[in-house]
Amino acid sequence: MDKSDSALVDVHAKLGREKHPPTKHFLHAPLVFVFLFGCLIFFCAIQLAHSTNDFQLHPPVKEVSLTPEEAEAKRMERKLASGKKLFNSRCATCHNLDGKGKDLFPPLAGSKWVTSNPGIITKIVLKGLKGEIEVLGKKYGTSATVIMPPQVLNNREIANVVSYARNAWGNDASEVTEEQVATFADEASSQNEQWTGDQLKDLYKDAFKGD
Ligand code: HEC
Repeated sequence: MDKSDSALVDVHAKLGREKHPPTKHFLHAPLVFVFLFGCLIFFCAIQLAHSTNDFQLHPPVKEVSLTPEEAEAKRMERKLASGKKLFNSRCATCHNLDGKGKDLFPPLAGSKWVTSNPGIITKIVLKGLKGEIEVLGKKYGTSATVIMPPQVLNNREIANVVSYARNAWGNDASEVTEEQVATFADEASSQNEQWTGDQLKDLYKDAFKGD
């Protein structure tokens, strides 16, 4: 190594020092931020763990054991709630939310057509009704233009809505099952237009005994 070489090394060393001057004061700011973000992430994680039940997106539903009576009550409650929804959206325009009817539309509350043999109301819902009938001492269906059209619902929906009507507004009658609706629908399969009240009275004489 001759002189010019060592001069070159010196110059390079000097240049290097100028480019990266030694740190004089240690900077605390970045450390403080790292610490604060760490805390933030930590507390967020705790919060998340709490609010998601230990990070489970779909926590298992806790097994609740119901007695047979409780299970039955629950089933009935659900069925009637579904029936109520259907009634309010499909029947209440004519029969009113309170089942008391209005103007030319007969009441369902307290009506024998609703609470006696479940075949009657079910068949009315399936095929509709026309012609004169009497409900709670008052005549309905006297105008040829005010008739009940068949209701387009499946058997399960009919079972729910009919069960609701038989148990709402003070009515207290047996529920109707989907299987019963299927049987009633079979029996009514040859009925191609709306029933008349007289037809149903003939089919269900017992229900109208004493009228
Ligand atoms: C477009 C109006 C209309 C809708 C919707 C309607 N009904 Fe009726 N309903 C009538 C009319 C009108 C009569 C009476 C027909 C007659 O006298 O010939 C009647 C009669 C009845 C009767 C026998 C009479 C009585 O008051 O007990 C029952 C039961 C009945 N409807 C149940 C229902 C149920 C349940 C629904 C819903 C699934 C429903 N109706 C939807 C118009 C309607």
